[in-house]
Amino acid sequence: MSKRALHVHANADTLNQAVADQIATLSAQAISRHGSFFVALSGGSTPRRLYQLLSSPAYTDHIDWPQVHIFFGDERCVPHDHPDSNFRMADEALLAHVPIPVRQIHAIPTDASAAGDNAASYERVLRDCLPHDNSGGWPQFDLVLLGLGPDGHTASLFPDTAILRERQRAAAAVYVDKLDAWRISLTLPTLEQARQLLFMVTGSDKAEIVRHALQPLPDDAILPVQRLQPGGSVGWHIDRAAAAALADQATS
Ligand code: 6PG
Repeated sequence: MSKRALHVHANADTLNQAVADQIATLSAQAISRHGSFFVALSGGSTPRRLYQLLSSPAYTDHIDWPQVHIFFGDERCVPHDHPDSNFRMADEALLAHVPIPVRQIHAIPTDASAAGDNAASYERVLRDCLPHDNSGGWPQFDLVLLGLGPDGHTASLFPDTAILRERQRAAAAVYVDKLDAWRISLTLPTLEQARQLLFMVTGSDKAEIVRHALQPLPDDAILPVQRLQPGGSVGWHIDRAAAAALADQATS
């Protein structure tokens, strides 16, 4: 049974500080446990400041970067130097500034003409590189960072898409009608197998979807993020603005 912890922070800065500290702790635990720290980074805009904080002097000495293996929770099917690329955002904010061996940075391939081929390549990397320390032999992350979209998507698990039914592949391609774009994403089982999921949600524009996700009403339509049945620990880090619609919100 997974454990869920909700942390409401005064603002995005205190949220980023708390998440960075938790990542430092999780990395030390993972490296102590099996010699490496396998983490999937989130995309979008929210985590950029966190990545910049992790690349600052306050953390460069607190995390054993040469033992860190970087993956991505999802990617837009654009070149890695495209402004919309999650890899580009993480590279500019973090990866170019910390001593992680290049062979341990696993960008989701976006070069093939067919998104499915890229997803299949990425899945092979997941299965080859990640530990499988669970009964099902599923590739297992130490940590997956996640955001929450205004429609309740996380990673690229968007409402009414076929990927929500994918239980065989560890990663898959998904065509998102409303974006008129292909994405590649970790699938629900891969997220569910992770030892730790950390959601980061900020801003008043996310208040209603946070309420829906964390305090569902009986008639609320189930969101993609609510389909998750995590086996590990789940942390929600939200700022006070994103927590505004929650019934009771004690600030961490
Ligand atoms: C992406 C992300 C996506 C993101 C949410 C929240 O590729 O866009 O993986 O799941 O986390 O859409 O995005 P913001 O942080 O920009 O609000």
